[in-house]
Amino acid sequence: MSYDFDRIIDRKNTASLKWDYTKSFFGEKDVLPLWVADMDFKAPPEVIEALNSRVEHGVYGYSGKPNNFYESIINWMNKKHNWQITKEWISVTPGVVPAINLAILALTEPNDKIIVQTPVYFPFFEAIKNNGRKLVNNPLIVEDNKYKMNFKELEEKIDEDTKMIILCSPHNPVGRVWSQKELSRLVDICIENDILIISDEIHSDIVYKGYRHIPIASLSQEAKERTITFMAPSKTFNVAGLSTAYSIIPNRELRSKFNERLNTMHLGLSNIFGTIALESCYTYGANWLDQLKSYLESNIEYTINYIKTNLPEIKLIKPEGTYLLWLDFKDLELSEEEIDELLIKKAKVALNKGTMFGEGGEFHRRLNIGCPRRTLEEALYRIKKAIHTKK
Ligand SMILES: Cc1ncc(COP(=O)(O)O)c(C=O)c1O
Repeated sequence: MSYDFDRIIDRKNTASLKWDYTKSFFGEKDVLPLWVADMDFKAPPEVIEALNSRVEHGVYGYSGKPNNFYESIINWMNKKHNWQITKEWISVTPGVVPAINLAILALTEPNDKIIVQTPVYFPFFEAIKNNGRKLVNNPLIVEDNKYKMNFKELEEKIDEDTKMIILCSPHNPVGRVWSQKELSRLVDICIENDILIISDEIHSDIVYKGYRHIPIASLSQEAKERTITFMAPSKTFNVAGLSTAYSIIPNRELRSKFNERLNTMHLGLSNIFGTIALESCYTYGANWLDQLKSYLESNIEYTINYIKTNLPEIKLIKPEGTYLLWLDFKDLELSEEEIDELLIKKAKVALNKGTMFGEGGEFHRRLNIGCPRRTLEEALYRIKKAIHTKK
């Protein structure tokens, strides 16, 4: 079966964060939104069918997680990521971000130091600071036109108070799919310094030709013992609004501490629709996902070519994974406010501001290409027009 990703679906007035809340995030109602990380595509038809049939049942009382639900996760990990996991390692959470907060609370103490590598998904910062832990930033570096982890400085920054690192793998917003060599080096440093690894792998299924996502916990027995992995079908199948994610924690002690917090806060209850969607995504969604990735890859190619030809002032590095492009506006020689003015007021497009992602985000904007080609064409055309009428 072939899926139609070109179809424009009107998402206005559906309580969509991306489409209906731009006024509160960007100060403008009438902007084309290519910001928050969800896509403008329908979920796979089998998922919609499974949800519809449960909706029709009409009784929406408390729900549990059937065995098939866990089996679908175990099979997906095995088939897609060559990682053999067991049911007891899995805990269901209402999202990856709440789970990161829980892991910080359960596995570190106030004032412990936690490392992040900016530019990176900004809720990591809040999770560290709001829970009274100390944020240590070890920014990524760009070498040979590629973002890399700065291992040298990482080793220098670690001290006895450093207890955890939050890894983003694949990395939002720079689109890196970390290689085995890079992940192994990180694990070695963490073993040497007794540091726990929180691995946010929510983007792991959107990885392009020539790259492979490796769950860091699958690298070795030692990696497995010190890693807490977070995954979800939410980015992959565009079901983020169903608030269902899961953690994989092989280490019994870490898992029991994490689950204790999860249960104390009553966050382990499942959302019936999220449960059904996850199981059907992982059971029936593989073909849809293959076609989605081809579509996204062609959107990326289109954007790169468009920018090369029409907007050479904007620089970007082709992502290895994710549907997020990290655009560098530095060569325009404008201030942050002027870039906002240009994009939001003049071009009327909403992209995420780079500085949200911390150090290294200056003069950058994040473009979400998870949309029909026509939407992307319109957004790029508007940006071109806005930049070129400025001159
Ligand atoms: C790296 C990363 N982690 C987590 C999330 C959000 O996860 P959740 O909605 O499950 O809390 C996102 C969404 O953009 C993300 O990019």
